[in-house]
Amino acid sequence: MRAITNPSSLIHHHPAVASAVLRSLRHRFATFSPTLVKVKAQSNYTSCAELDNARTGRSGSLAAPPVQFDATQKIDVNPPKGTRDFPPEEMRLRSWLFHNFREVSHSFGFEEVDFPVLESEALFIRKAGEEIRDQLYCFEDRGNRRVALRPELTPSLARLVIQKGKSASLPLKWFAIGQCWRYERMTRGRRREHYQWNMDIIGVPGVTAEAELISSIITFFKRIGITASDVGFKVSSRKVLQEVLRRYSVPENLFGRVCVIIDKLEKIPIDDIKKELMSAELSEEAVEELLQILSMKSLTELEEKLGDSVEALEDLKKLFSLAEKYGYSEWIQFDASIVRGLAYYTGIVFEGFDREGKLRAICGGGRYDRLLSTFGGDDIPACGFGFGDAVIIELLKERGLLPELSPQIENIVCSLDQDLQGVASLVASRLREKGQSVDLVLENKPLKWVFKRAARINAQKLVIVGSAEWQKGMVRVKILSSGEQYEIKVDELE
Ligand code: HAM
Repeated sequence: MRAITNPSSLIHHHPAVASAVLRSLRHRFATFSPTLVKVKAQSNYTSCAELDNARTGRSGSLAAPPVQFDATQKIDVNPPKGTRDFPPEEMRLRSWLFHNFREVSHSFGFEEVDFPVLESEALFIRKAGEEIRDQLYCFEDRGNRRVALRPELTPSLARLVIQKGKSASLPLKWFAIGQCWRYERMTRGRRREHYQWNMDIIGVPGVTAEAELISSIITFFKRIGITASDVGFKVSSRKVLQEVLRRYSVPENLFGRVCVIIDKLEKIPIDDIKKELMSAELSEEAVEELLQILSMKSLTELEEKLGDSVEALEDLKKLFSLAEKYGYSEWIQFDASIVRGLAYYTGIVFEGFDREGKLRAICGGGRYDRLLSTFGGDDIPACGFGFGDAVIIELLKERGLLPELSPQIENIVCSLDQDLQGVASLVASRLREKGQSVDLVLENKPLKWVFKRAARINAQKLVIVGSAEWQKGMVRVKILSSGEQYEIKVDELE
């Protein structure tokens, strides 16, 4: 949705279009949410792509004067396009997913970290022409600072590692779960906001780190019922490309750009890829060689081409041998076409894919040994992955593996008499002190209503405060699964 240009200025400067503009505005006011229009106008909230368009005059400028809106209009109850609400049933699913992310991360000895959703825009600006750059939600804050909603977590993590400096004892094993924002074209599993689970190892130069990270993702898959016949990992190393570029004397500073171009292999026609590569100073011969190597699916083939002494091959062979020891060989395969779209990867790269080929990448990651130094820190080896919340949910739906999650509240407590409401509160407090969850009925409701509610929240016990029992300092407990009932002293409740 675009901001609506201030009608008065338009009318003033272009009287001839005045009536058409007013007609169109009247129509827009009738159909648009004034609240959304207001938010957008006040915050000047936009993607960099839109801002660029505004600068070049290509499309609706958000630098336009504030929008007039009719405050009496009803608000649009839908969240902004590409974003989600999480009502209780969706929130239960999200919590379940995050719980599994956390459990797996902890079981691998990782500590949780977090960063602000809003970061300095500069953190995400790299020269390689990445897609993520054009998808940035960025704007100027009230203090005239360029800021952006994070599209990923890795640059923030690198920033924090540098900030910690020598006080951080390596290796760091950190995980994070955070919301990321990308102004994406919406497809299945791709949204404008998504949550990402990241695990990163900082300070380990060898592929033992990558092997451990892949193992953690597989542990997660197994935990939620996904098997090696549902999902696989395509693995390669950017050092393969580096080697080819070195052989053709392509300057090192073009490496990131070439990787970003190659990542588009499945998205744009091959002739366009060739043109882009040649515009990045690659000769026709180098481009042909590169494309031939990228089509390789076996390490033996790669070895025949490059020889066995190149670093890429050593890394890949070691990783595959470690996979055997971990016992996850059937999950991973070499595929030279995998480069990933982010410019900072320097070594092993991998992505999780669904074997039916219906969905976009489930997760992706790799080694980024130079990101910290590009931010002005020391060169510290690092690798990690990002795992989104959207594609995995689609996959679970496809496989009929979505868990049935209902509310789980252990007790429902009610009083039969309004005068005993205070006693019911006391009973609820006692149970909560003992670590139990309690839904306290806050109004005087008939028992039929209470039973219905108990069923909806899956309560295990109904605790009834009635005057006859309370005179003896007791309450009545009903076990809802069996119907068993008993009286018990409040202090003995557990
Ligand atoms: P990425 O490949 O850009 O990597 O994203 C990682 C994962 O995030 C994707 O595989 C996908 O699951 C999810 N994802 C990305 N964009 C969207 C979207 N628009 N909607 C839904 N899900 C999405 C990174 O972001 C790296 N920073 C990962 C990393 C961490 N590398 C090292 N450490």
